[in-house]
Amino acid sequence: MKFFVDTADTAEIRDLAETGLLDGVTTNPSLIHKAGRNFLEVVEEIAGIVPGPVSAEVVALDHAGMMREAEILRRIADNIAVKVPLTIDGLKTCKALTADGTMVNVTLCFTANQALLAAKAGATFISPFVGRHDDIGFDGMQIISEIRQIYDNYDFRTEILVASVRHPIHVLEAAKIGADVMTAPPAVIRQLFNHPLTERGLETFLADWQKTGQTIG
Ligand code: G3P
Repeated sequence: MKFFVDTADTAEIRDLAETGLLDGVTTNPSLIHKAGRNFLEVVEEIAGIVPGPVSAEVVALDHAGMMREAEILRRIADNIAVKVPLTIDGLKTCKALTADGTMVNVTLCFTANQALLAAKAGATFISPFVGRHDDIGFDGMQIISEIRQIYDNYDFRTEILVASVRHPIHVLEAAKIGADVMTAPPAVIRQLFNHPLTERGLETFLADWQKTGQTIG
C-alpha cells in the first residue's frame, strides 16, 4: 500500500520524505488555508520534495472553469495530480484530463456507486473519505471493501486512495482490504511507528548493553 501524507506543511513533508516511506502528497483547500501560503508556490515546492503524485485541487464548480484551473496546476510539474470533486462537471473534467495523460484524483467520494462513476471517467485515484463517514455514524471502511470488490470485478485500474484517515486502525483496515493508497495527516503516520513495548524494550537493551562496558567498532 502506498503512503501519501495529507498536508501542505512542507517542513512535515520534508521530514517524512527522509524516511523513504512517503509515496506522495495530498492537499485540499482547507489544508492550503491552514498552511497560510500561496497555493501555487506551495504546490510547486511540494512537487519538488516528493517524486510521487502531489494532489492539487481545483475550486471552480463548472467544467470550463475546472479545465482552466487544471491547465495552470498541471503545468507546475509532471507529478501533479489534479484533484476534482465528484460531481458531473468534476467527472467531465476527469475524463478530459486523463485522456490527455494528466493524473486525476477524484475527491469527496462517499459511495461505491460514485467510485464506479469515477473509474468509468478514467480517474487515476478515487478518494473515499472514511473518517467523515464514521463521523456521521456510518462505517467508512465498508465503502472501501465495496469499491475494492467492484474495481476487481471489472479490472478498473483506478487506485483506491483511502482519505480522511484519522487513526492507525483506519490504516490497518485499509491495508487488509487491499486499498492501493492511504493518505493520512503527519501525526497519524508518526503514530504508526510507535509502540510502548518497542520503547520499553529499547530502554532495557540499552541499559544491559551499557552494563557490558562494550562499544561497537
Ligand atoms: O484530503 C482529503 C481528506 O483526507 C480530508 O480529511 O480529516 O478533513 O476529513 P478530513
